[in-house]
Amino acid sequence: MDLFVHDGLLWKHRAQIKNLIPTRILNSILLGFPKIYQHKLINFETNMCPTTFEKFLFELNSTLGVAGNIVECGTARGGSCAIMANYLKKIKSNKLIYAFDSFSGFHPDEARQEENQLTRRPLVFAFKKTGLGYFQKKMEVLGHKDRVFPIKGYFQDTLNIYLPESICFAFVDCDLSNSLDYCLEQIWPKLSVGGKILIDDYLSPFYPGVKKIVDNFILNKRSTLTSKIIHSFNCLEKLA
Ligand SMILES: C[S@@+](CC[C@H](N)C(=O)[O-])C[C@H]1O[C@@H](n2cnc3c(N)ncnc32)[C@H](O)[C@@H]1O
Repeated sequence: MDLFVHDGLLWKHRAQIKNLIPTRILNSILLGFPKIYQHKLINFETNMCPTTFEKFLFELNSTLGVAGNIVECGTARGGSCAIMANYLKKIKSNKLIYAFDSFSGFHPDEARQEENQLTRRPLVFAFKKTGLGYFQKKMEVLGHKDRVFPIKGYFQDTLNIYLPESICFAFVDCDLSNSLDYCLEQIWPKLSVGGKILIDDYLSPFYPGVKKIVDNFILNKRSTLTSKIIHSFNCLEKLA
């Protein structure tokens, strides 16, 4: 049963099934019955599989003794954010999460450019089935209103103003190259020594730009970091 749920047809097509449900109806069902978020097929609405998340939380946990708070760049409907917040609540950590997203999908110019040059995926209309209001209500019904702070807007307009002064852990899951590059450059000076940045899709065939940007970043900062690949993440730890 578990195999079927995680790796079978239903798991594979869950995003398409979800897309068939009108957003308003989907939102009111989920917000009205928040227990549904916990179902294995919903998994708080992240596309990451539960085994990947165990590794993710292990890395997050390893930075909780480090100064600073947590940043997420690329929140969408708040799946990974909710899972991080659940974990912090469970272990009674008082770390806060700053969740950055346009809450309306990719920047159209960047999406178009990447569609033409790097991937055959349609990007311009991706991740539009979200919104700041939905995200805030979701955090409220899950009991994370006082821990999670959403910052709406394109990273290029928000990070330099709203990033916390000190960061222990950052999850960067924004798919597109220019935005990823910008996030890494903004986060790095504020990341505490011993802190980590976890970048999603490092090995994804759908977003080949991610690996190029991360490899280049590692090359430029090689004396101050270590890097390890975990599933399709790259995890950078700041050494100095
Ligand atoms: C893959 S989704 C994030 C999924 C989420 N981390 C999860 O696992 O539930 C990528 C998100 O990055 C956001 N994004 C990408 N580039 C952005 C930019 N320049 N500014 C703001 N948001 C951006 C998109 O709006 C989208 O919601």
